[in-house]
Amino acid sequence: MNITKICCIGAGYVGGPTMAVIAQKCPHIQVTVVDMNVERIQAWNDADVHNIPIYEPGLAAVVAEARGRNLFFSTDVDQAIEEADAIFISVNTPTKTYGKGKNMAADLKYIELCARQIARVAKNDKIVIEKSTLPVRTAEAIKSILDSTGNGVQFQILSNPEFLAEGTAVTDLLQPDRILIGGETSEAGEKAIAALVAVYANWVPQDKILTTNVWSSELSKLTANAFLAQRISSINALSELCEKTGADVTEVSRAIGMDSRIGAKFLKASVGFGGSCFQKDILNLVYIAKSYGLTEVADYWEQVIIMNDHQKRRFANKIVQTLYNTVAGKKIAFLGWAFKKDTNDTRESAAIYVADDLINEQAELAVYDPKVSETKVLQDLNYLQSRTADENQAAISYFDSAYQACQGAHAVAILTEWDEFTDYDWQKIYDGMQKPAFLFDGRNILNAAAMEAIGFVYSGIGVVSSE
Ligand code: NAD
Ligand code: UDX
Repeated sequence: MNITKICCIGAGYVGGPTMAVIAQKCPHIQVTVVDMNVERIQAWNDADVHNIPIYEPGLAAVVAEARGRNLFFSTDVDQAIEEADAIFISVNTPTKTYGKGKNMAADLKYIELCARQIARVAKNDKIVIEKSTLPVRTAEAIKSILDSTGNGVQFQILSNPEFLAEGTAVTDLLQPDRILIGGETSEAGEKAIAALVAVYANWVPQDKILTTNVWSSELSKLTANAFLAQRISSINALSELCEKTGADVTEVSRAIGMDSRIGAKFLKASVGFGGSCFQKDILNLVYIAKSYGLTEVADYWEQVIIMNDHQKRRFANKIVQTLYNTVAGKKIAFLGWAFKKDTNDTRESAAIYVADDLINEQAELAVYDPKVSETKVLQDLNYLQSRTADENQAAISYFDSAYQACQGAHAVAILTEWDEFTDYDWQKIYDGMQKPAFLFDGRNILNAAAMEAIGFVYSGIGVVSSE
């Protein structure tokens, strides 16, 4: 079995970059990325490659190289399915907002629609690849739908979860820590696995391509995200203790991170983790554990989310308390809205929840983010349904410059660790603010002593504040 034509359903943060890199590294394979979102596909096809819908460092260049050669973006899902030997399903699997498993389980309606569409359209044998993050044993449901047509077409289901992180998607895809491929332990399953291994082997060393059974692969993805998020909640829990005891969380992180058994990565205390994956995937894990009656397992992982919610709320409370217990009518500048630097993605960004709490306290927020638009900021707040859209609009002003956003502010809060924030002329920002000028560094990116020397009342995460 030789894969020469790939179709990817879902042109989002995963489907777009992943397929662009496959196309760049495999010029002999035709890759068609399809989506039902017409605007998104138009943006991927925009003549100016800088207008593609996803901002990722290095992505525009990869798309520019492969697009029109062997990389295509289309809304014709049926045609792409029909032509392909291998179909990646890379659609969204958000937390359910209704019915059984509401606010916990993954909503698999888009996955099921894809499976039904493939079943309806396919005329020859296909490898169907789960690229989306899915609950363990989803492949069983997909297979049952695909096999239900009775038209003799054979399907092999593989699980090939994606481990890229946003903001570093292109380098993560070019130099992955590992590629994980799970498949059936039958002869046909092994052939399908080998075909997909051959695609990745065009640029990934063989020893980094790991093959497992389907269930291990599906569960490993949820597990990886749960472990990563757990590290952040663990260090954030300790950041609160540091603030009470005079220990400095950055020093604690460095001290424990040098233990090779612990490792230095993912130990940055912050205002709380965001992004479309961590919360959704842990909730899903909790739901799966509960559905098997594993209460202790479920409770254990749920605590990671509880701690993260606490960290976001704690940051907002600290701003209110420090500003003499009232922020009503006070201007608070928000530097950063994205859930991390180098992305325009705001899903589950801590900024949204901190803003929501402060608007409840009648603060006036002045927002600046290098990559996030005003429309997106308002959409994010409206999505919470805490108040009317008009009320959100009235509470938010949006600026194209951080200096303007901070002008006349009582406080500045850093929500995202954009590199440019460290290069600012903080004396100039201080000069334009109300006094005392408060600075809340939700990412510990500024030098506390330097900020205090300017005159700021500086407050980082996990350090005793200067007050
Ligand atoms: P996304 O929302 O950016 O993109 C999904 C796309 O699928 C959307 O454009 C949507 O229009 C399209 N779609 C949905 N149903 C469709 C259908 N039936 N036909 C055609 N198009 C359809 O989502 P994403 O961030 O790319 O995530 C996709 C999956 O990858 C999720 O399961 C997620 O958990 C997982 N994942 C995401 C990341 C990440 O960093 N974002 C990393 C690893 C894994
Ligand atoms: C995550 C996983 O890292 C990736 O492997 C998976 O495929 C998708 O989910 P992503 O959410 O894109 O990737 O970004 P990540 O770098 O993991 O950051 C997630 C959140 O944690 C961000 O809000 C980030 O600011 C925060 N974070 C990360 C911390 O607060 N401290 C850290 O030490 C690391």
